[in-house]
Amino acid sequence: MSNVRAFVAGATGFVGRAVVPALRQADATVIAHVRPSSRSGEWRSRFGEVGATVAEVAWEPAAMTAALAAHAPTHVFCLIGTTRDRAKAEGIAGDPYMAIDYGLTKLLVDAVLASGKRPRLILLSSIGVTAKATSKYLHAHWLAEECVRQSGLPWLIAQPSFIVGPDRDDSRPAERIGAAVAGGLLAVTGLIAPKVRATYRPTSPAILAAALVRHGLAPGDSRVISGDDLR
Ligand SMILES: NC(=O)c1ccc[n+]([C@@H]2O[C@H](COP(=O)([O-])OP(=O)(O)OC[C@H]3O[C@@H](n4cnc5c(N)ncnc54)[C@H](OP(=O)(O)O)[C@@H]3O)[C@@H](O)[C@H]2O)c1
Repeated sequence: MSNVRAFVAGATGFVGRAVVPALRQADATVIAHVRPSSRSGEWRSRFGEVGATVAEVAWEPAAMTAALAAHAPTHVFCLIGTTRDRAKAEGIAGDPYMAIDYGLTKLLVDAVLASGKRPRLILLSSIGVTAKATSKYLHAHWLAEECVRQSGLPWLIAQPSFIVGPDRDDSRPAERIGAAVAGGLLAVTGLIAPKVRATYRPTSPAILAAALVRHGLAPGDSRVISGDDLR
């Protein structure tokens, strides 16, 4: 077993459930965070089968700080996010991306700092995130990135394009159509520069998970990665 101890927030998500086994394949000790309302019994056995430990912890500052202090991770993966439909179904009021994508990232980073540990933060963000982005989704992700960048901890931020694959719980037609359009345009347009092509090409959870683990665990400077780096 390596010395890597990875705490995965968002372990139950489309990408997170691929990151957990990828980390185990890299010989890391894995603590898969599961919120108490998230069918924890099912995840306990799914993650247990690959040798990960499930930490069932509420998204509450003191509980999260205590869990991080106890598990003492060397790496913290933040793979959290919601959609308007999911947030509505959960009764989340206001801007769902500010509440979850940004709000829980901030809670997690604050809890890491309060725990006194100094792990590397690995944040799953999105292509298109900049300070000037005007959509609510991109703006919340910009604030989440800033929270990570200003933490004083080492970090890695990944900005993938669309992530597609069969193993999703909800249908998300907009993402499927967006990915198909992006993939189709990139396939037929020879005029697009290879770098731009790589940046917008849709990916899969398995490919992205392998890249997050490869870059996240490798020693290196804090940086933003996208395109071919996520292959
Ligand atoms: N999918 C894409 O095409 C794409 C592209 C670029 C970037 N991204 C970004 O990548 C990140 C992960 O994406 P994904 O597709 O893996 O997301 P996902 O499948 O929706 O999973 C998100 C994770 O967030 C947790 N979560 C959602 N709502 C929550 C809430 N109210 N309270 C606590 N936890 C909550 C989920 O826990 P439960 O299982 O308990 O609900 C799950 O572990 C997101 O920030 C997303 O914006 C996605």
